[in-house]
Amino acid sequence: MYPLLRNRRLRTSVSIRNLVRETVLTPNDFLVPLFVVEGKGIKEEIPSMPDYYRLSLDHLEKEIHELWKMGLRAVLLFVKVPEDLKDNTGKEALNPEGLMQRAIRTVKNACPEMLVMTDVALDPYSVFGHDGIIDDGKIRNDETSAVLAEMSVSHARAGADFVAPSDMMDGRILTIREALEDEGFTDTGIMSYSAKYASSFYGPFRDALDSAPVVHKNIPKDKKTYQMDPANRFEAIKETLMDIEEGADVVMIKPGLPYLDIVREIRNEVDVPVAVYQVSGEYAMLKAAAEKGWLDHDTVMLEQLMAIKRAGATIIATYFAKEVIPLLT
Ligand code: PBG
Repeated sequence: MYPLLRNRRLRTSVSIRNLVRETVLTPNDFLVPLFVVEGKGIKEEIPSMPDYYRLSLDHLEKEIHELWKMGLRAVLLFVKVPEDLKDNTGKEALNPEGLMQRAIRTVKNACPEMLVMTDVALDPYSVFGHDGIIDDGKIRNDETSAVLAEMSVSHARAGADFVAPSDMMDGRILTIREALEDEGFTDTGIMSYSAKYASSFYGPFRDALDSAPVVHKNIPKDKKTYQMDPANRFEAIKETLMDIEEGADVVMIKPGLPYLDIVREIRNEVDVPVAVYQVSGEYAMLKAAAEKGWLDHDTVMLEQLMAIKRAGATIIATYFAKEVIPLLT
């Protein structure tokens, strides 16, 4: 009882605070999302994501060497697909010479030990900007899963270590797992976006890939028939447990900071690694506030990443990965 018990004793110096700290960030915590574009010599800043770039394959190669030198060991690839290659079926997603397939090979050639994870979803390939095939104004679940399974096999064939389905179709993890097994890719892992919310925090990402749903009277204006309602908690657990049953090796919660209650709940519930995606809108908010001088960039960045890890993240996908490394002691 106070004054015998004084909690401040454990905060009196840097040394004691370091000694009793419960959560420590290391380079092994981070997964680096990368945006790849066609062309040569291209490194273009994404307007709504300051200090973040779309890279052509030559710059991707340089970036991979740089990340490796910093101690970063895992990347998550996204591609910006040229408009004329988009359709409603994801045909280009299966092209063995497609941008994603070439990007995977580029990373593996540059640095075979770098872990390559790939985004598996149709939105960058869709004329409608949706994660699924559309028929009669509706997203077709099973037809979409079948293409995602082929896409996963194609990525595995190009050298991906993990595929990361971000579409939220029902049953796609099982369909993908079976397809990978059938083709002999028994070691290719699946990181499932298990609890992915229909969030407005994805805006800058959709700018980066030019992948926002199109505005048209016969096309759903948002992704609410497949991504989750931000109001729901039990459903996140149900989704995650089902994905694990279907064969997910890693599960993911997305976005990050506004959903840390879900992260902790799922961490307590499951025995597989839990990934958290600190999404583009979270990144943009801090960049904007720091630019205005309203928040201190580095300390807020560290605090946010620490909070995500403390909540239960095993893996943190973050656009801040390169910036945070020099600040880790
Ligand atoms: C698309 C996908 C999205 C993100 C990752 N994969 C956007 C969306 O679902 O519309 C968002 C990532 C971010 O905002 O950083 N399947």
